[in-house]
Amino acid sequence: MNQDDKKRLLGVAAADYIDFLLETEQYIGVGTGSTANFFIDALAKVKHKFAGAVASSEVSAQRLKDHGIQVVALTEVSSLTVYVDGADEISGDFSMIKGGGAALTREKIVAAASDRFICIADSSKWVKQLGRFPLPIEVIPMARSLVALEMIKLGGTPVLRQGTITDNGHQIIDVHDLEISDPTGLESAINQIPGVVTNGLFAHRGADVLLMDHNNEIGTFTRSGGGPA
Ligand code: A5P
Repeated sequence: MNQDDKKRLLGVAAADYIDFLLETEQYIGVGTGSTANFFIDALAKVKHKFAGAVASSEVSAQRLKDHGIQVVALTEVSSLTVYVDGADEISGDFSMIKGGGAALTREKIVAAASDRFICIADSSKWVKQLGRFPLPIEVIPMARSLVALEMIKLGGTPVLRQGTITDNGHQIIDVHDLEISDPTGLESAINQIPGVVTNGLFAHRGADVLLMDHNNEIGTFTRSGGGPA
């Protein structure tokens, strides 16, 4: 199986997984990225099973609409049964780095509003400790130098993502070389820097369930049960 095959199977597995959880009046949260795209495509087959979706980006909203799935604003719904999204890295405690596709702020908002976070990630994303993938931080443009200097103090090497403006009109700094031994502590510390909109550590609200290829099959793992060996 190549990586695209794995992502496609993960998307199908996630649609099957939520099929059992959903009732017709419920809404779901939908993530962003190449793995999430396969999930959206697979969702089309079960779209009669739920009322509609809240998207974490304009791109995902358009893809959902193209499949005839109703897209609603988060302000229009009282709760989301599940949130399904990919990750750039995920580790043993199911904390993640996200934001490679620049959608981290809306992803974090929709994830926080959801009862359950189902992460769909191929096995290249499984790491012992987060930090090999540079940590994305969405910043208000006037604060980008300030945030970069603070990230250097925290041991990182910040790089402005050239040519990227988020759906919220902000910029992204990718921070390399961070030692992430305490993901929740670092997530909180970065949030304290003025001008930071969101950082890509999803540790306070990590995943509850992980669907990941393991020995050429798609496995289902829970945070309490642990990930693939
Ligand atoms: C989007 O901003 C990200 O958080 C994605 O969920 C993450 O980058 C995973 O993307 P892929 O599924 O394309 O690897």
